[in-house]
Amino acid sequence: MKLHVPTLIARKREGETLDPAEIRKLIEGYTSGEIPDYQMSAFAMAVFFRGMDAVETAALTRAMLESGDVFHHRDGHPKVVDKHSTGGIGDKVSLILAPLVACTGVWVPMVSGRGLGITGGTLDKLESIPGFKVGISIPEAQDLLEKLGVVMMGQTDRFCPADKKLYALRDVTGTVPSIPLITASIMSKKLAESLDTLVLDVKFGTGAFMRTEAEARVLADSMIAVGKEMGVEVHAVLNPMSEPLGRAVGNALEVIESLECLEGRGPADLRKLVLDLSEKIAPVSRKDLERLLDDGSARRKFDEIVASHGGNPADLPKLSQIHHAPVIRDFPASDTGTVMQVDAGLVGQAALQLGAGRARATDGVDHAVGFDHFVKCGEHIHQGHPLCRIHARTAVDFEIAEALLEKAIRIG
Ligand code: URA
Repeated sequence: MKLHVPTLIARKREGETLDPAEIRKLIEGYTSGEIPDYQMSAFAMAVFFRGMDAVETAALTRAMLESGDVFHHRDGHPKVVDKHSTGGIGDKVSLILAPLVACTGVWVPMVSGRGLGITGGTLDKLESIPGFKVGISIPEAQDLLEKLGVVMMGQTDRFCPADKKLYALRDVTGTVPSIPLITASIMSKKLAESLDTLVLDVKFGTGAFMRTEAEARVLADSMIAVGKEMGVEVHAVLNPMSEPLGRAVGNALEVIESLECLEGRGPADLRKLVLDLSEKIAPVSRKDLERLLDDGSARRKFDEIVASHGGNPADLPKLSQIHHAPVIRDFPASDTGTVMQVDAGLVGQAALQLGAGRARATDGVDHAVGFDHFVKCGEHIHQGHPLCRIHARTAVDFEIAEALLEKAIRIG
């Protein structure tokens, strides 16, 4: 079948349902360079306005995941599971969930991304551990799965190349916020891990991609439907991202907080979310998962992950000395009262200003800067007491972050 791309674009523009074979040909042509960006951007815009049904979205997902390498697990492998979060501020769940769930005997081939804009990324956080190498090949990853039951890595060049190309195009053509395109983009990357079960943490609120719970529900349902079409069990949990998760935001600072959680301590909201998501994919009870956090098993597994990725577990307790920002000062409360709001979106912007995140995909990140000891909504606070601690590279950066936090935190 020879694809006539202008006709295909026009049919989608008129709201027609496309055939899975046509969608596959389109993605193959686009990945090979045969179909140019201008035709693909017109197609993406047609999808943006007309949408796609579950069968079309599954076909797009499958074509994108098969555009590159996928994991092939050996015969008789344990159950393969993972989690995906649509992103948030202070969201370090992956660092805890991956080792925790791997302790239960399943495999966790976790392929993660980098931070962009106000949202942090698991890879940036892991790279604050000296020597930690996230750029490993799929064969190396398969070896680690056999050895440890878990691997934490970035996308290789050969992993979903169609998504890499299409996502960059959507970014500059106003076609990112399309439910079928987001669904295919996320699910192609996760399903290339050849999973049995996936749990999705779909966030909504000021610090999230989806602003309302209703929008998050639509995205969750679309991803569940694609999972069903493709024979993968998908669970979705909707979670607010109106205040940051936990009490720390920033790369090394979030690893430090993750270690606390892996040692059975840490903020209650973080521990709860880790358990809520883990229990959907682990073959053990919530009580067993709690025990694995409390008895040091998950923490030991994290040490094994660090060692097998080129880091030294002995560095973990020293991370605050290794990444010591030059300006570390409290941010005091101007009033006495109850914390009514800690706006996650504004905290994310403040972290970006400090250099913890990246404005463009090609920027680097500062591992040392960010916030810790953050107050949580509902806590009572006295005037002059710290609302958080700011870790900044310079006094000017400190002041910029302080001005944003003034707006982010409301005391009533
Ligand atoms: N994250 C992705 O990986 N893809 C999207 O389209 C949106 C968010």
